[in-house]
Amino acid sequence: MTTPAIEILGLTKDYPAGFWRKRLRRSLDNLTLNVEEGEIFGFLGPNGAGKTTTLKLLTGLIFPTAGTARVRGQSIEDVRMHRAIGYLPEQPYFYDYLTARELLDYYARFAGFTRAERRARIGRLLERVGLGTAGDVQLRKFSKGMLQRAGIAQAILHDPQVIFLDEPMSGLDPVGRREVRDIIYGLKQQGRTVFFSTHILADAEMLCDRVAVLHQGKLMGVGAPSEIVSIEINAMEILFEERDGQALPAALAASAARSGGRCRIAVPEAGLYDALEQLRGCQARILSVAPVRPTLEDYFLRMVGGGNAASRAAEVKTP
Ligand SMILES: Nc1ncnc2c1ncn2[C@@H]1O[C@H](COP(=O)(O)OP(=O)(O)O)[C@@H](O)[C@H]1O
Ligand SMILES: [Mg+2]
Repeated sequence: MTTPAIEILGLTKDYPAGFWRKRLRRSLDNLTLNVEEGEIFGFLGPNGAGKTTTLKLLTGLIFPTAGTARVRGQSIEDVRMHRAIGYLPEQPYFYDYLTARELLDYYARFAGFTRAERRARIGRLLERVGLGTAGDVQLRKFSKGMLQRAGIAQAILHDPQVIFLDEPMSGLDPVGRREVRDIIYGLKQQGRTVFFSTHILADAEMLCDRVAVLHQGKLMGVGAPSEIVSIEINAMEILFEERDGQALPAALAASAARSGGRCRIAVPEAGLYDALEQLRGCQARILSVAPVRPTLEDYFLRMVGGGNAASRAAEVKTP
């Protein structure tokens, strides 16, 4: 068996809390997790779940209260680990008056490249993240999406094997998110391992080989998006049009979502015929009946609380 790209063993972090900072608050609680070489791994969780804390621990920016981790077999406490990793922080800050090329040149000096190497490498990199024509524009003129791509270029400048990205898609419009997704996918095709945090579940569902869900510092589940969403929801969705002047029974009306003159309700599979009977009773026109395909979002909401039609329907079912 090959060594996992990332091995996380009981990683725990307490931060001082309270006015005198004497109390401690556990922000990451005994996280154990492996990420395989070549995977795109999504680290999901609501705000405050501990995602950034985990990424900072894994990139050696802060130190664990307990536990340990290895990246490609090297302990996160070993400075040599840094050659193997790239990191895009959450909301990176770059000096406004630098151009993208100057910014990358600055980081490339740290990595010890010669001038000629830097030139060639930065040219290729700018092309690769879609900034081929924007290399000499000052960063203050960049859109959020362009800045994020410049940040990713910085993270992959030294060709790291394992790339950590903290919320790489947040604040981007659909086009920007697509561009970042394409870059991440390109990294996978080159055999790199990408570990990124996000709260945009649709992006994770499209992109990730596996995801982990973190909530209040605790791991709630790990698996392929398809595996994770194959949890039994057994709900059916009915699409129908209401008949004017015919009120729906209260139980159905409460869960009905209306849009464009149509109504949707999700009901547990076992209650389908009963619901159809009731709808027929108020002369609703049934347009379709289909099984609810659970999404990562359903799973997520179920794990971290909250709810939507499908998860509510699933709850109805559980005694
Ligand atoms: N430097 C810090 N000092 C004290 N508490 C912190 C610090 N950084 C994060 N926290 C707390 O740790 C928890 C997890 O934060 P974070 O890792 O940033 O979550 P996420 O990235 O998932 O939104 C939050 O409750 C946050 O307030
Ligand atoms: Mg964060």
